[in-house]
Amino acid sequence: MKKVEITAYGAPEEVAHCVEAPDVGQPGAGEIVFDILAFPINPADLSLCRGNYRLRPPLPATPGAECVGRIAAVGAGVSRVKPGDLVINMQRENWAQRRRIKADDAIPLPSGLDVAQAAMLRINPATALLLLEDHVALKPGDWVIQDVANSAVGRHLIVLAKQKGVRTVNVVRRNDVTAELKALGADIVLVDGPDLATRAHDAVGGAPIRLGIDAVSGTACKRIADCLADGGMVISYGAMSGEDLVMSRPALSFRGVSLTGFNLGRGLAKRSPDQVRALYADLAIKLRDGVLKAPIDATYPIEDIKEALAHAQRGGRNGKVLVLPNGPV
Ligand SMILES: NC(=O)c1ccc[n+]([C@@H]2O[C@H](COP(=O)([O-])OP(=O)(O)OC[C@H]3O[C@@H](n4cnc5c(N)ncnc54)[C@H](OP(=O)(O)O)[C@@H]3O)[C@@H](O)[C@H]2O)c1
Repeated sequence: MKKVEITAYGAPEEVAHCVEAPDVGQPGAGEIVFDILAFPINPADLSLCRGNYRLRPPLPATPGAECVGRIAAVGAGVSRVKPGDLVINMQRENWAQRRRIKADDAIPLPSGLDVAQAAMLRINPATALLLLEDHVALKPGDWVIQDVANSAVGRHLIVLAKQKGVRTVNVVRRNDVTAELKALGADIVLVDGPDLATRAHDAVGGAPIRLGIDAVSGTACKRIADCLADGGMVISYGAMSGEDLVMSRPALSFRGVSLTGFNLGRGLAKRSPDQVRALYADLAIKLRDGVLKAPIDATYPIEDIKEALAHAQRGGRNGKVLVLPNGPV
């Protein structure tokens, strides 16, 4: 069996290797074994390889926050899933050809789901949903502003906001994605820049923007805060710039804008296991029906993990980089 290992923390394409590993063996009681069909390379996986993610596992370590797989075998006492089922794994270490996990960590998916899209179900669609639902009580007609709007999270957020009647100002760093985002339902698309607050204010006709969602960090967070109405909230959920947050003191002190952070794990932990399953069942239906969709720029075999990692770090991609550890899907 092949899996990816990092042997040091550093440049992902240098520290990650595709290695031969012993097979995972047969499932024990309460366990399942599944073949991994696809996994994406997400920004958090790249951070983990670099050693600047919140988790820093002992080395060698296998990255991989999400994947989709097909169950090969189930152990004694497992009744909720069966061989042949397509599942996502709620635990990590998924950059491998095969995994043996507790059955309770697997969420079965409905039939008819595109395997590549299913590989990207666990993290980004749920993140977009919780960013919209867990912090500010938004009503139809309200405005939110987000940066990295052409990211997978950003695209899902546009669609989910539209379904709620919430209007979006979408900040990107290049103009060539504007038409695609509008086609998804983006109300406004703006290219980031120092005068963002003025342009956003004009674009919404002076209406209050109540929620700002930032995954660039650095001064981009301040620019998002400066777009918000008094009493608004900024949620920081990523740091694509690699910089720490910069916040506007006048926004915080004089205008009552608040700043909070978001992490999917913490968001899901507030929910019961049944609520988490229901949330993913609903998102899976949206993926199956093509309501939610993340574009894919390229796919790679697991042996080419270094090339895949180099590709995933390029700006201007037209979607995610996926790895197919057991061949084409
Ligand atoms: N907190 C959580 O629980 C959580 C969960 C999921 C995701 N996230 C975060 O959400 C963000 C988006 O993730 P994703 O998987 O949706 O991303 P993605 O699809 O891989 O897209 C990456 C996005 O980042 C932009 N970008 C890259 N470098 C940048 C820079 N230096 N300055 C500004 N923009 C930059 C890219 O713009 P171009 O297309 O122009 O290159 C693109 O829009 C990441 O920061 C990720 O860590 C957080």
